[in-house]
Amino acid sequence: MSQVFLCNRDELEPGTLKKVAGGDAGDICVYNLDGKFYATADMCTHATASLAEGDMEGDLITCPVHWGQFHIPSGQAVTFPCERAVRTYRIITTDKEVFADTSAESEEAELAAASPI
Ligand code: FES
Repeated sequence: MSQVFLCNRDELEPGTLKKVAGGDAGDICVYNLDGKFYATADMCTHATASLAEGDMEGDLITCPVHWGQFHIPSGQAVTFPCERAVRTYRIITTDKEVFADTSAESEEAELAAASPI
């Protein structure tokens, strides 16, 4: 398991996100969705864009360049021109801190991979 510190639990309000340097994993975008944390790669899979500079609407992140969208929990691409899922990371939380396990996908991504639409 490879663990990267993302933020303190009280640092991100629900409905907000931020970019974190993820070391070998590259930049990671961490999201607080109604009190639950998720993490994806920061780079859009369509072209070169930072998802942390996009708009978070519910459980979707909209890329700031061509407005493609991803489902944050599963990383699935849901709006053209995004067609490839963005990498997700498994979240580990302690009482005060949030980490990403960069060796594992989110549970939602694993479920989506097991039963594609
Ligand atoms: S770079 Fe993200 S939708 Fe094109």
